[in-house]
Amino acid sequence: MSFIKKLFGQTNKKDEESINMSNVKLAVIYYSSTGTNYQLAKWAEEGGNAAGAEVKVLKVPELAPEAAIESNPAWKAHVEETKDVPEVTLDDLEWADAIIFSVPTRFGNMAAQMKQFIDTTGGLWFEGKLANKAVSAMSSASNAHGGQEATILSLYTTMYHWGAIVASPGYTDPLLFASGGNPYGTSVTVGQDGKMQENVEEAAKYQAKRTVQVAEWIKKGNQ
Ligand SMILES: Cc1cc2nc3c(=O)[nH]c(=O)nc-3n(C[C@H](O)[C@H](O)[C@H](O)COP(=O)(O)O)c2cc1C
Repeated sequence: MSFIKKLFGQTNKKDEESINMSNVKLAVIYYSSTGTNYQLAKWAEEGGNAAGAEVKVLKVPELAPEAAIESNPAWKAHVEETKDVPEVTLDDLEWADAIIFSVPTRFGNMAAQMKQFIDTTGGLWFEGKLANKAVSAMSSASNAHGGQEATILSLYTTMYHWGAIVASPGYTDPLLFASGGNPYGTSVTVGQDGKMQENVEEAAKYQAKRTVQVAEWIKKGNQ
């Protein structure tokens, strides 16, 4: 058996043991203008549920002026489609053992809507309430090399300041190669037609399971 197969074989066995025992609370926190990151968040929700976690999908507040949204039919439709998705609060962050962020690239960085929300977490951070949470991030961009990895890493920079434990997918499962092989987190290219160019559904679900699993290990280790 090759090293890679041995590695994946061992990982998968532990995955199954842990997945059956999960009592983790997972918050999937996203921003999306035209639906891509909402879809990634929904797939992460499915993966988290399959791992036995209690899952909340939460959007960060919109900051763009009404006129900007009105001028873009896809944006307007997405805002309408997700009007019932709850907005994230600081209580949700405190509640969660595991957090997955999903955010589009804006000039190689996270969208300002997400950054604005993150910048409200200073009080929780000061009280040490964001430390030791298992976190990971997902992203999208119009171009394959348009900043998907950089955007995920921009979120991880903040996570290190929180003292969170970054549970990136790495190459811990062969399915990750089929979805573009971004070891930092699931990411996808969005065409001019708004459609995803790569099939990342399984990668997003897998990332959620892995983040839940790492949160489970942290919880057990802390007892
Ligand atoms: C202000 C702005 C900046 C953007 N910057 C980039 C960029 O640097 N690289 C890129 O490939 N796409 C860029 N995009 C495209 C978005 O990343 C893309 O529309 C987004 O990933 C779609 O996600 P959503 O459907 O969840 O909104 C930008 C879009 C906007 C509006």
